[in-house]
Amino acid sequence: MAIPGRRALKQGALSWISRRRLVTLVLGAVLLAYILVSLQDRGYRAGSTSSSSRWADYTLEAAAAAVARDGRIVVCAVSFPYLAFLVNWLISIASHGHHDKVLVIAEDYEMLNYVNEFWPGHAVLVPPALPLATAQRFGSQGFFNFTSRRPQHLLKLLELGYSVLYNDVDMVWMSDPFPLFTGDHDIYFTDDMTAIKPLDHSHSLPPPGKKGRTYICSCMIFLRPTPGAKLVLQKWIEELQQQPWSPKAKANDQPAFNWALNKTSNKVDMYLLPQASFPSGGLYFKNETWRRLPQNQNKLTIIHNNYITGFDKKIKRFHDTGLWLIDDAHVNTLPDFNLVKHYLDTQPQL
Ligand SMILES: *[C@@H]1O[C@H](CO)[C@@H](O)[C@H](O)[C@H]1NC(C)=O
Ligand SMILES: *[C@@H]1O[C@H](CO)[C@@H](O)[C@H](O)[C@H]1NC(C)=O
Ligand SMILES: *[C@@H]1O[C@H](CO)[C@@H](O)[C@H](O)[C@H]1NC(C)=O
Repeated sequence: MAIPGRRALKQGALSWISRRRLVTLVLGAVLLAYILVSLQDRGYRAGSTSSSSRWADYTLEAAAAAVARDGRIVVCAVSFPYLAFLVNWLISIASHGHHDKVLVIAEDYEMLNYVNEFWPGHAVLVPPALPLATAQRFGSQGFFNFTSRRPQHLLKLLELGYSVLYNDVDMVWMSDPFPLFTGDHDIYFTDDMTAIKPLDHSHSLPPPGKKGRTYICSCMIFLRPTPGAKLVLQKWIEELQQQPWSPKAKANDQPAFNWALNKTSNKVDMYLLPQASFPSGGLYFKNETWRRLPQNQNKLTIIHNNYITGFDKKIKRFHDTGLWLIDDAHVNTLPDFNLVKHYLDTQPQL
């Protein structure tokens, strides 16, 4: 370009400035478009683990119909951070041939998609979902919110006409529990107390403990689709609404369950399961003498890894007592269980 005169220089400078402004505008527009597109792309990818999952519209009704066997369903409610416990629990159930009727109520889309990718139809999510990768601490408000939806899911399944066995996933099946649900009772449950009962203890609701209520575990419940069982669940839901979480009480859903049992006990046929078959973790893990009594060996049915908090401590305790089945699960022993096989092939040993 020829050296411009003063005027020309001024004009040239002006046009140069506006050209620069134009370039800035264009660059800005390109950048904005890029950001919008990449946000949309991220949204799309996040969408593949959330509402755009092909399982997002899978209903509790459809899932129950798909997995029920002889009108029975085994249910857990779990979020993705607990995958290892879910797999350990499933291995134990599979060894007693009941995994076909397991329904995983996924608390987040990661769990929904993981289970259904390798075991189609066995997981369902009842919205709203927990945000991804939130492990809820026992006693926290998140934990309360998470567990307080359980009775609603269970009630829905009873209303659909199924018998339901609910389990927490920090459990291991030592034998088939179904033969122990004898008789025609509405609801079967276990005592979470550690005091040792005689082998022939009563099967009625125990007397209230120190806080004026019983310590029945909300971790393992078998329910028949009867008016009595539905009444307990309705009462449980009510009790949860009346006693919401507070930082002081740090409640979980168990006290509300126990008040529901207390208030419905004259209308509902309840059955306390035998302690030797369903000991609380506070008894089984903490009293080796009791654990080794020959009379208890052949009765153990489901072991609950409670009375301990923390992910790592629970796993260590399962390890130490030979109940971390993931350690020994050999791919060959689970030829048809793709979910467990995939987990064992891809996850680091814990
Ligand atoms: C739990 O639920 C309450 C009531 O719906 C809500 O206000 C609160 O933010 C939730 N808290 C957590 C940690 O999920
Ligand atoms: C229910 O709880 C109250 C208060 O603790 C107690 O007096 C009563 O005996 C309980 N009823 C049953 C059936 O356990
Ligand atoms: C442990 O179990 C044994 C055998 O049942 C019993 O005699 C003992 O009292 C128990 N110990 C505790 C601390 O409960």
